Amino acid sequence: MRTRNSSSPFASFLVILAPILVAVLRGGDGFAAPGDDAPFGPARVLSSKRGMVVSAAPEASSAGAEVLAAGGNAMDAAIATALALAVVYPQAGNLAGGGFLVARSPDGTVQALDFRETAPALSTRDMFLGTDGRPVPKASTATSLAVATPGSVRGYAEAHRRLGRLPWARVVAPAERLAREGFLVPAGLSADLAESRELLTRWEETRRLFFPDGSPLAAGTLLRQPDLAATLARVGKEGPEAFHRGDAAVRLVSFVRAHGGVLSEEDLAGYAPVWRAPDEIRFGRLVVHTMPLPSSAGQVLRSVLAQLEVARGPAGGLDADSYHLLLEAERRAYADRNRWLGDGDCTVVPLGVILEPARLAALGASIDPARATSSASVGASLSRRAGEAEETTHLSVATPDGSAVSLTTTLNGSFGNGAIVPGLGVLLNNEMDDFAIAPGVPNLYGLVQGSVNEVRPGARPLSSMSPAIVEEDGKPLLVVGSPGGSTIPTTVLQVLLRATGGESLGDAVAAPRLHHQHTPDVVFVEKAGASEGLRESLRARGHLLRERGPIGQVHAVVFSPDGQLTGAADPRGHGAPAAP
Ligand code: DON
Repeated sequence: MRTRNSSSPFASFLVILAPILVAVLRGGDGFAAPGDDAPFGPARVLSSKRGMVVSAAPEASSAGAEVLAAGGNAMDAAIATALALAVVYPQAGNLAGGGFLVARSPDGTVQALDFRETAPALSTRDMFLGTDGRPVPKASTATSLAVATPGSVRGYAEAHRRLGRLPWARVVAPAERLAREGFLVPAGLSADLAESRELLTRWEETRRLFFPDGSPLAAGTLLRQPDLAATLARVGKEGPEAFHRGDAAVRLVSFVRAHGGVLSEEDLAGYAPVWRAPDEIRFGRLVVHTMPLPSSAGQVLRSVLAQLEVARGPAGGLDADSYHLLLEAERRAYADRNRWLGDGDCTVVPLGVILEPARLAALGASIDPARATSSASVGASLSRRAGEAEETTHLSVATPDGSAVSLTTTLNGSFGNGAIVPGLGVLLNNEMDDFAIAPGVPNLYGLVQGSVNEVRPGARPLSSMSPAIVEEDGKPLLVVGSPGGSTIPTTVLQVLLRATGGESLGDAVAAPRLHHQHTPDVVFVEKAGASEGLRESLRARGHLLRERGPIGQVHAVVFSPDGQLTGAADPRGHGAPAAP
């Protein structure tokens, strides 16, 4: 990590003054200076030696910091933060969704928990197709059929059971309090409600809670969620069974069934999170620990980093030349991802062949440093459908003893399928859309995936979520992750390469991002981002650029050798770091 060096006294003066000005402007203290190349503004950065929590909502990060201050460990804080996000960040925080986490213990052990949703037992391969054999519009995103068996509550409880320290009720308490006492609706939530109005107002309880007088809750409104508070209170007192069985399960299932879904009480009662061996990817002195299947994180990160190692060596940093190499490696990795990946527990995924080191080296060697390769010659698989609201959320926690938790969770689309279950106060996921619902049909993220990822009862849909913990020479260095559907792995890669290549974490998080996903054969560029010089150098190599909205929303923590933990919240969102 670099600290900025300036040559002139005036520049030095500015360097000293800038953090103070930013801190004053933001009404906090300890926030760092803006980066030079940050079209969205500077990341919100905070350093502390006591512990660090970074998430998409300041109240949720504070919930985690509160739990650390009460003697909790990194896992306690991560779960408290995730539960609080279900209250204050309903776009993606959830009880009825799913996700993944990677956790590092002080002794260096790294474990991964998969609490991804599963396809209900009564789901079928053709469940989203009409009698004409074509996909029924929005069936896999905006209906009760879109709901996969939720995994978050059992997932959080299992992670806490194995790795938490404080009593479960203490970890749930901040979320319950936020739901009961209420919080002030931030501008971001108000805007997202307005954007998803059509999806949300189709459901009576969602209308009642989020559109009380017909318009989305205005910024600054106090939002109390008594039903959600009661659900959290029961879960806090009785544990996850208070959600997966009994009254709550009956309510949730009856609601889904009454609206044409197939979820059953047996599905909810039978859901089990799975501890998995994290993928361990070496890149020079770094080891990246991330999710294996049913996330594509491990495959994409391993493939891209192995190709880069051949194309330019195991170095960090991203300039115009290395961006071309990165995008070309992404093109090749995504061709494999979509064709070959699915739930490895339910079907055969030839990972050994796809990730064979000699094959990855050959892929890296096939990159022409001067010219873009056409995707057609690499194998077709992806396209992107624009304009759908996307939302997932990532939180990172680190403590001075070397513990870390990297957790990404989602309802899939923004606010899931849009339905709040009356009496429970929870939003339902639309994760079934992550399956390949029909051959050749792109999902919410434009992924056209193979039959390996078709709907199978009990299977987990293929994911892109990439919670990661990076070590350098065996010591914890970086905790990182992001939302963004198909752009998640490439977002994580860019922050990783920048933060390990000399940029401060704040600059690495704020920097413009680019993305290639093989099909369409274009480089996605943030509208506000990427300098003209970089754009020109890519065009000169034959890349076609396509502008789009912000890519990802990273919440990350870096460990410094002096014991400082520095958290950075992406300026693309409204999140914040918090320390105990
Ligand atoms: O698991 C996945 O890959 C998707 N359900 C993630 C969705 C997502 O990231 C939406 N975010 N912006």
